[in-house]
Amino acid sequence: MKFQSVATAALICVVTASPVPDRAVLVPRLNTARLDAARAGAARLDTRQDGTDTSNDLVDGICREVTFIFARGSLEAGNMGSIVGPQVCTDLQSTLSTDTVACQGVGSPYNATLADNFLPQNTSPTDIGAATSMFDLANTQCPDTLIVAGGYSQGSAVMDGSIQALPAALMAKIKGVVLFGFTRNEQDGGRIPNYPTNETKVYCADGDLVCNDTLIITPAHLTYGVDAPDAAAFLVSALGL
Ligand SMILES: *[C@@H]1O[C@H](CO)[C@@H](O)[C@H](O)[C@H]1NC(C)=O
Ligand SMILES: *[C@@H]1O[C@H](CO)[C@@H](O)[C@H](O)[C@H]1NC(C)=O
Ligand SMILES: *[C@@H]1O[C@H](CO)[C@@H](O)[C@H](O)[C@H]1NC(C)=O
Repeated sequence: MKFQSVATAALICVVTASPVPDRAVLVPRLNTARLDAARAGAARLDTRQDGTDTSNDLVDGICREVTFIFARGSLEAGNMGSIVGPQVCTDLQSTLSTDTVACQGVGSPYNATLADNFLPQNTSPTDIGAATSMFDLANTQCPDTLIVAGGYSQGSAVMDGSIQALPAALMAKIKGVVLFGFTRNEQDGGRIPNYPTNETKVYCADGDLVCNDTLIITPAHLTYGVDAPDAAAFLVSALGL
């Protein structure tokens, strides 16, 4: 097995199952402006009061008009990670107000291990179940809340696996989903099976090879922080608020 790590901090590395083919097709086109912007965004996040890698509003018993449930990428800290989850939460709250939006990360037993990326669903049934538990909790504890969801890297597979298998009534309460660096993008045709495509937005950065049915991590995979404002705007529009 070959371990590839490209950027320095907050790595969401994935082990490649086989050596990287030496053909040029796998050499990513690095958009350095995008990468610099993502790094600047991560640095800003460190200094923001609400910029933590953990959100537990639902688990803490809070019900708000909107609930954002997010699954982080492999090896990311907390339950929201740092690449893009907290930024989308913050952007939703600044658009709709903090009092309107609850944020909840998918935590244990989703432990965001590297190995689970190699399972048939690019994550494990247990990991998927952890997300389903959060959707169930939102539904039972806050029956009137409008749900939006997101996932990054392995977390995108977690959301894909969970949402496609939800009972129709609960699925219908999920008004929009954003997926970043979607590891099942090619396998699932750029969508979550069973879930409306017009309520799904997939972000695949130029050169992010996980979107092409590989688990090869390139610098592009770490740039999704720059998409947080667009993703939050998509979710707000899908909510119809
Ligand atoms: C995840 O981590 C928690 C805490 O360390 C542990 O109790 C749990 O068994 C782990 N889950 C899995 C599926 O390994
Ligand atoms: C990889 O996937 C992206 C997003 O679906 C697509 O735009 C691109 O053409 C694909 N690249 C290759 C080499 O298949
Ligand atoms: C998606 O399409 C369905 C069915 O046409 C519609 O009810 C729903 O409002 C649309 N959602 C968005 C976010 O446009």
